[in-house]
Amino acid sequence: MTDQAPAPYAGPQRVLSGVQPTGDLHLGNYLGALVKFARLQHEIETFIFVADLHALTEWVDPSKLKSNVREIAAAYLATGLDPKVANIFAQSAVPAHAELAWIFNCVARLGWLDRMTQFKDKAGKHKERSSVGLYTYPVLQAADILVYKATHVPVGEDQRQHLELTRDIAAKFNHDFEAPGFFPLPDALTQGPGARIMSLRDGKVKMSKSDPSDYSRINLTDDADAISQKVRKARTDPEPLPETLDELKARPEAENLVGVYAALSGRTAQDVLGEFAGQGFGAFKPKLADLAVSVMGPIGGEMRRLLADPAEIDRILAAGAERARAVAEPTLAEVKRIVGYWAG
Ligand code: TRP
Repeated sequence: MTDQAPAPYAGPQRVLSGVQPTGDLHLGNYLGALVKFARLQHEIETFIFVADLHALTEWVDPSKLKSNVREIAAAYLATGLDPKVANIFAQSAVPAHAELAWIFNCVARLGWLDRMTQFKDKAGKHKERSSVGLYTYPVLQAADILVYKATHVPVGEDQRQHLELTRDIAAKFNHDFEAPGFFPLPDALTQGPGARIMSLRDGKVKMSKSDPSDYSRINLTDDADAISQKVRKARTDPEPLPETLDELKARPEAENLVGVYAALSGRTAQDVLGEFAGQGFGAFKPKLADLAVSVMGPIGGEMRRLLADPAEIDRILAAGAERARAVAEPTLAEVKRIVGYWAG
């Protein structure tokens, strides 16, 4: 060993991300993640999966899980992922994720997992009643990423800490097993105008599928009427829109709606203010409603069309899984050899 910096990763660049099949996807998921997947697939080899192994960390009705997986797959397709370009699959169809997760359970330290804020949020007051899987959730996430040696991971801001953990696991594996540069240290791609979409009812909390009020979010499956209603009923304040972003800082609902308008139209928030400064929400909201309907409406329609033919979705997932396994299995075989397994 020398005390030089460890060898950098020299393999190909790859994008990987996943979404859990737990209920309705909404505008926040769309702008924070799904639009980025569709864009990146044309730049770098892309793996996008449905995280059904992760879904079991909390109770999920077995009779719903498969249809939830198909719904996420439909969302991927409806938001522009092309199964001929990107590899789209269900996590449970690629056993290498779980096998690598075991090995990473032995690399990650308890102290690292103890710091994970998502576990604390999800476990709440009853930590001792949470599944062990919920606790090691981020270790499986690291395996999802590194089994493809992914270098770029488009995710929402809330996943930043899990990506840091993934890097720590990769670095410790490379170091402990004297395999410099074996795993890349992947980067989280969290930037973008849709990084933080807030509830339509309260500009201080994130848009979330667990919010009891359906008016707090725009679901991917909402039809035009629902989208338009929700925008019109969104909480606002009586002031007109200002000229500068700074003046929006103390007005979280106004700031959020301007941000949504910007993200949906591919413009900057400043540009949007340039057009609407001096106008009140009576004028702004109908414009935002039309924009949201024109972008989100067709996505919902396409999802409904795709979900009417589950066999076609299953065919796409099966083909994607086959391609995913062809990349994941050789990585796992190398890992088994590196750690010295009998079966390696
Ligand atoms: N934890 C992610 C979320 O809640 C989902 C996920 C699981 C994921 N495995 C992943 C995201 C791997 C990116 C890469 O959104």
